Amino acid sequence: MTSGLATVAYIAATILFILSLGGLANPETARRGNLFGIVGMTIAVLATVLGPRVTPAGYAWIIGALVVGATIGLFAAKKVQMTQMPELVAAMHSLVGLAACLVGFASYVDTSTVFPTAAEKTIHEVEIYVGILIGAVTFSGSVIAFGKLSGRIGGKPLLLPGRHWLNLAGLLVVIGFGRVFLQAHDIQAGMTPLIVMTVIALLFGVHMVMAIGGADMPVVVSMLNSYSGWAAAATGFMLSNDLLIVVGALVGSSGAILSYIMCRAMNRNFISVIAGGFGGGSSAPAAGGAAQPAGEVAPIDAAETAELLREAKNVVIVPGYGMAVAQAQHTVFEITRHLRDKGVNVRFGIHPVAGRMPGHMNVLLAEAKVPYDIVLEMDEINEDFPDTDVAMVIGANDIVNPAAQEDPTSPIAGMPVLEVWKARTSIVMKRSMASGYAGVDNPLFYKDNNRMLFGDAKKMLDEVLAALKG
Ligand code: TAP
Repeated sequence: MTSGLATVAYIAATILFILSLGGLANPETARRGNLFGIVGMTIAVLATVLGPRVTPAGYAWIIGALVVGATIGLFAAKKVQMTQMPELVAAMHSLVGLAACLVGFASYVDTSTVFPTAAEKTIHEVEIYVGILIGAVTFSGSVIAFGKLSGRIGGKPLLLPGRHWLNLAGLLVVIGFGRVFLQAHDIQAGMTPLIVMTVIALLFGVHMVMAIGGADMPVVVSMLNSYSGWAAAATGFMLSNDLLIVVGALVGSSGAILSYIMCRAMNRNFISVIAGGFGGGSSAPAAGGAAQPAGEVAPIDAAETAELLREAKNVVIVPGYGMAVAQAQHTVFEITRHLRDKGVNVRFGIHPVAGRMPGHMNVLLAEAKVPYDIVLEMDEINEDFPDTDVAMVIGANDIVNPAAQEDPTSPIAGMPVLEVWKARTSIVMKRSMASGYAGVDNPLFYKDNNRMLFGDAKKMLDEVLAALKG
């Protein structure tokens, strides 16, 4: 393939990636967006492999890598459960970071490129230094995020004394060694500052994510998503690959926008998240930790739940992580259809961080064919709770916790939540009194107008559906 043809293919791939991102912004066009992404990536890989920069001697390596990579990808896509997606994504981000580091070191020791001017050589070295820096932070941060999300590392934030000063000192050392690196006369002399910076960047990545606790993890996941994009863009600069620069910038900026949206949803400060400086005094304690239940709860059974739903005019369903675990979305749809056929106004309230990944609930409800127009965001539905007869909470906990508004000392204080307790009756469907991801007790359970329907969400909803039809 000539370089002209490769450039045309890259432009086509870039356009497809932009269309893909546009499509993914809306559930109705998401499938098409995905398809654009797949076609764009296929064109990008083919144009790179068949492009002018690959010599025939490299084909064996590339085909071997493609086979290994595709096999792992296929296996992961088939095996990984929907609830494990965030940790898979974190693992993948770590690979982007690792690739940026490896490409950086390889570019540095590669003496085959001759730079016509000293300025061009310096620019290339800056690209290497910054690329490895971003790559190393992304790599170690993502590995820790993977550990936290998969429960291999405890969710409790690790708050070192004077940690902001530690970060600042690390930054100054990195800048200082950057200067030494750029002044080095040969590869050997430059290697030491490069390695020192890499170690500091790796430690910073670990420190940044270790400092973040339970309910704040979604922000970190989307932030690392953004970092991985910038790491890819940096790799593109090092390899002089325009497509990688553009795609990296797209991922980096869309990830940054997502992080900003997440921060707003969690009521956190965007800048302090980017600086790795949050997770302070108000951070959440151990994820999934057992909080002490406080008070009496009023249980309800499936038949009584069906009765309340049958008599209701307005019902709001609030799904959470438990619905995903129980795979109850299809029964939720059946119940919704049944109630709507009987003239009940059923709508869904979706919290931005419900479940374990952005859009988790929307994906499940779309899969179950719940109409999009009755699936509303938290801000759109919150003021309707006082006019709601039954608010049905299915496997959700943190996102409906009134302590976020009522208790300034709560680890989730300030986080906006779905105000289900304002409905005439709220019904919480879960298996036990266990706390949610943030590990805090939920005063909603003890409110007078709240009922607890204990059991696996799928099993209980099947019983509710049977009672409704009976
Ligand atoms: P959680 O607060 O984690 O609560 C889920 C509840 O579901 C649990 O209390 C659990 O109680 C119940 N549950 C589990 N399996 C169940 C089953 N089979 N049947 C019925 N109930 C079941 O979930 P949420 O309300 O969706 O809030 C999300 C939390 O995850 C937030 O803290 C958020 O910050 C965090 N997080 C979100 C993301 C993203 S991006 N969405 C990423 C990482 C972390 P039982 O054990 O008693 O059943």
